[in-house]
Amino acid sequence: MMDGILAEKRNENDRFFLFVVDNYFKDKDLAKRVPAKPEDVIKFIDVDPHEPTTEQIDTLRDEVLSTKGLPAGVIGIGGGSIMDIAKAISLMFTNEGSSTLYQGLNLIKKPGIYHLGVPTISGTGAEVSMTAVLTGPVKKLGLKCEWTVFNQVILDPELIASVPVDKWLYTGMDTYIHCIESENGILNNAYSHAYAEQSLKLCREIFLDENAGQTAENDDKLMVASMMGGLSLTYSEVGVCHALSYGLSKILGEKHCYANCLAFQHLEDYYPEGVAEFKQMLVKHKVKLPQGISNSWTDEQITAMAQVAYNLPHMWNHAIGTDWKEKISIDLIKDLYKRM
Ligand SMILES: [Fe+2]
Repeated sequence: MMDGILAEKRNENDRFFLFVVDNYFKDKDLAKRVPAKPEDVIKFIDVDPHEPTTEQIDTLRDEVLSTKGLPAGVIGIGGGSIMDIAKAISLMFTNEGSSTLYQGLNLIKKPGIYHLGVPTISGTGAEVSMTAVLTGPVKKLGLKCEWTVFNQVILDPELIASVPVDKWLYTGMDTYIHCIESENGILNNAYSHAYAEQSLKLCREIFLDENAGQTAENDDKLMVASMMGGLSLTYSEVGVCHALSYGLSKILGEKHCYANCLAFQHLEDYYPEGVAEFKQMLVKHKVKLPQGISNSWTDEQITAMAQVAYNLPHMWNHAIGTDWKEKISIDLIKDLYKRM
């Protein structure tokens, strides 16, 4: 299928494709199924040590431009981090300078090159969202604009069938949290609500009801739930959990979906029903989150995380309201981290 889609794009620019593939697949069958031609470039990227960085994107872009030229397109095959790398590098092939210059809303000046997303784990919504989240020297913030969105996406539920249960749950919970946060805030609207409502219904079927679990039918549903959760937040906003999660990722290097779960379990003050249901889902699948981890953090680390979280005003504005600065302080956020 992918071969046919790519054939009509292949003659653009310097007539080769850049494939960015999760290193996990390097010695697996999936890698052999990548329809690369001899002139194409395949980069296997290890996403385990950290989330995508601005430096990583700039280096890869400069290397490909100086050795091969401008690709006809970029194909990302992997999880949320690979989706973000493919989206970001597509934009950075046509926008000059470092990607740190473009972290924020509508700072990108030109459309990127063609990019195709093939998710192999579902939940982050990165396959449909209009942001490519990157960690830079100063901030963790997305390249967000209309051109960030993939030109095409291939959703094949067979690709997510072998995800280990804990990763399956953490990544799926990212979708669940997207919906809870999108719904609970001032930017929620009929459009974002319709997507969140449907995505939440699917999440309950996948993670909670009697037929919950990693079945082929639920894998189909999870791909759709992830997409709808991503669309819901695109037209609304995320909230308190994602703000705290960004602090955990930026300062401690925690992966996005796991960091969300670490934070969300303690946010019953903000999302009482969502947190209760989330805990039921963890119990159902016998996944335990660590407790008391903040005991090993220094006050400097907690302060630094609180500052990262506080500097995401769009999230607080949505979750708390336009007067959020009267209700949320660095000290209050530090106390939320100390609950973990
Ligand atoms: Fe997320």
